[in-house]
Amino acid sequence: MLAAQKMTNARPSSRIPGFYKMSMEERLQVLQDEGVIDSADAELLRQTGIPVDIPNQMIENAIGVMALPLGLGLNFDVNGREYIVPMAVEEPSVIAAVSHVAKIVRGCGGFDAEYSGSKMVGQIQVVGCDDFEAAQIAVLEAKPELVARANEFEPGMVERGGGAYDVTVRLLDNGQFRKMLVVHLHVDTCDAMGANMINTMAEGIAHRIEELTGGTVFLRILSNLSDERVARATCRIPFDKLGWRGFTGQEVAEGIELASQFAQVDPYRATTHNKGIMNGISSVCIATGNDWRAIEAGAHAFAAQKWGQYGPLATWRVEDGCLVGEIEVPVAVGTVGGPIKLHPTVQLAHKILDISGAAELAEVMAAVGLAQNMAALKALATEGIQRGHMSLHARAVAATAGATDAELDFVVERLNACGEVKVERAAEILAELRS
Ligand code: MEV
Repeated sequence: MLAAQKMTNARPSSRIPGFYKMSMEERLQVLQDEGVIDSADAELLRQTGIPVDIPNQMIENAIGVMALPLGLGLNFDVNGREYIVPMAVEEPSVIAAVSHVAKIVRGCGGFDAEYSGSKMVGQIQVVGCDDFEAAQIAVLEAKPELVARANEFEPGMVERGGGAYDVTVRLLDNGQFRKMLVVHLHVDTCDAMGANMINTMAEGIAHRIEELTGGTVFLRILSNLSDERVARATCRIPFDKLGWRGFTGQEVAEGIELASQFAQVDPYRATTHNKGIMNGISSVCIATGNDWRAIEAGAHAFAAQKWGQYGPLATWRVEDGCLVGEIEVPVAVGTVGGPIKLHPTVQLAHKILDISGAAELAEVMAAVGLAQNMAALKALATEGIQRGHMSLHARAVAATAGATDAELDFVVERLNACGEVKVERAAEILAELRS
């Protein structure tokens, strides 16, 4: 969406000053006052579990639930809309960092984001054809028939405007292995992640592919390299919004540009750069009940495909007195199906995020990834990551040493002041406090 198309709307503001300083109970109250959640939602969030039968409905051999903290990424303005972004993550500083950058970006027009559409590929592997070229032509000539057959397996998806729409063929022959014909069934999954649907279709047309090619079909499975299901986000921040901790805005911008160039030329750095991006994207993925392994696999493969060697998903450059950031990332997520129907906290996360479908979710996730990346690069290119990281880590350290809620702030403050964020030090501070 273009910046000029942005509209104001009556959504709750994602800007909630002082949210981080409130108790959990105060946060639940503010969210109720702002109309983000109601009292039943607050009650669900107070109980840290979910009904006992849900895990058993979701997986095999269930014995319970592994709880992760659920937090809110604040301050997001994406395509002129406010977003309060649920994030499930165990790592301190991820949510504080992303909210910090989202606040800067909302002051300069917010994020612009777009989505290519939910187009995915199912792969059908064929070996043992007598004539691979003829087999390839036979499959391509049968394209309308194959698309129609595939769609017979998912009539509901076709009714919703999606389903299979194309077939392409690749001949893979590296001279070492058996020659393979790989048929790609192209499917629009609309608001569903679509893995089950694509796999059903791929299995469904496999027999016909054997008839057409005279070969034998082996694998029939979706590809997680969803390079036609890509979300893009950009932001533009003038230097005067970037000054920080004794660094001028220009210094911060140039440092971030240099950090981005480092990732562009070095896969060792690009891996860590992208890990930081996925800190944000995967957290939203988990909170919204999506398959984060699929997203991670797709993102890293895309990062290699795009650059010819493993490279960054997001880049930054200095342009006309501004820092300009861009991210391009495959985001195969759904807003229907999967655990979304079953898991009450996932449903609540969708309610808080308040999005209309997979496209909007993908756009928000791209913006989160870009913000997360900038937060990391801003720290790395200036004072280093450890200062902020350790001051947030101090809470976990104080709690591990046995600090109660009432003692926590005091111990954290003392740990940060002495710069030695260790459990033994926290225990000493506690002993001192209690005596
Ligand atoms: C830590 O979880 C993420 C970072 O390493 C990302 C980066 O280096 O860009 C800080």
